[in-house]
Amino acid sequence: MDALDEIQESVVVKNGNSNTHSSLFSDLRPLGPEGPFSLETQFIADSDSCKVNLIIGAYRNNQGQAWQPPSLVEAKKRIHVESCLHEYLPLHGSAEFLESSKLLVLGPEITNQAYDRIASIQTISGTGANSLIAKFLDNHTHPANIWLPDPTWVNHADIWKENAPGVDLRWYPYYDESSRSLSFSAMIQTLQRDTQENDAILLHACAHNPTGLDPTKEQWEEIALVCKEKKLFVIFDSAYQGFASGDLDHDAWAIRHFFTHPGLEFAICQSFSKNMSLYGERLGALHIVVSRKSSSPPTASVHGHLAEIQRACVSMAPLFGSRVANEIFKSEDLHLMWQADLLLMSNRIKTMRKAVYDELVRLQTPGNWDHVVHQTGMFSYTGLTEEQVGRLRKEHHVYMLPSGRASICGLTCANFKYTAQAIHSVITDTQKRQV
Ligand SMILES: Cc1ncc(COP(=O)(O)O)c(C=O)c1O
Repeated sequence: MDALDEIQESVVVKNGNSNTHSSLFSDLRPLGPEGPFSLETQFIADSDSCKVNLIIGAYRNNQGQAWQPPSLVEAKKRIHVESCLHEYLPLHGSAEFLESSKLLVLGPEITNQAYDRIASIQTISGTGANSLIAKFLDNHTHPANIWLPDPTWVNHADIWKENAPGVDLRWYPYYDESSRSLSFSAMIQTLQRDTQENDAILLHACAHNPTGLDPTKEQWEEIALVCKEKKLFVIFDSAYQGFASGDLDHDAWAIRHFFTHPGLEFAICQSFSKNMSLYGERLGALHIVVSRKSSSPPTASVHGHLAEIQRACVSMAPLFGSRVANEIFKSEDLHLMWQADLLLMSNRIKTMRKAVYDELVRLQTPGNWDHVVHQTGMFSYTGLTEEQVGRLRKEHHVYMLPSGRASICGLTCANFKYTAQAIHSVITDTQKRQV
């Protein structure tokens, strides 16, 4: 028996398995082909010329193509990539980027007022910021529960399970299926009744994914009061600032409102994937706003511990995206150009919402489709059932998530009529079958 055989034999004995070809990983549960990424693979393999991709949350132009906004193209020119060094960033990331990203989300007034109470770190985009805050809270403040909206971005639950095994996942009602609207009273009731002091709660800052339903200003005020009264730690997931409405300040309103409550401490998970079209560059930030009630704010300790966790996971965030963002932030003309890009992208989405809605109404598709135009952001929570979504894919080559979430960015002037007709056929056929 040679050395390799001996090792294999000992693994077999340890696992009590007589198969000499068994692997350490043989017991891993096979994962099903769910999720947006596997649907995307199916879409690519689909050879139908009419196929429509409403799956992935990434902007597409009216030709259905990935698009580089002019501000991004110009910023890259100004960087002179050929002569850039590729050194490590500091552990906290680019200081210049952190200053600008903080200013962007909190505005100049709050940033000034709270200059010694905000701990910021550059992260691997929004996902990295969500993961880091989960780990940080699990390690240091030990909330019993994290409260997530039901439904929420598919990754939130997994992020908390992976990064905060000591924190229980709980859900607060968010969506009322019958009225296709925000289930606000049930949300407030649950938070008032079931949360405990020190629990964490995740709120989408704007353009809630997947429902496209955001609270009104009055509702945000009420949510802030409950969080304050119940002493919850708030985590804002801000993945769509400026992309949702086309207005950077408008989309940050809720976060800035929470700052008006001096005792509320909160975190902001900021992503630049959508609003700067830097999806693959993984640019994001985590900001933690420390209570204004404490006389000696522990900002430096928070800052230090964030860096310690990030160092163990990924060392530091990548460099290139922050270079591009810094270029846009520092030049007035590029900043203006970027704001125009945001308006263009959000307006195209609104136009497509209206176009598909008008077509559904024109076709007299059964049901009420007002929600398609009332929802905001990248997605429409169409209200289609999983079965209807499956038929849309198989019979009409229109792809969306099984939950009925459609990425409106996938609609173009060339395909919205086809898409509406496909939805119309599936809905009317479902009705006929039910009769
Ligand atoms: C609500 C929400 N949070 C966070 C993210 C994270 O995106 P990224 O990691 O690309 O910044 C997304 C992306 O779709 C999202 O929809």
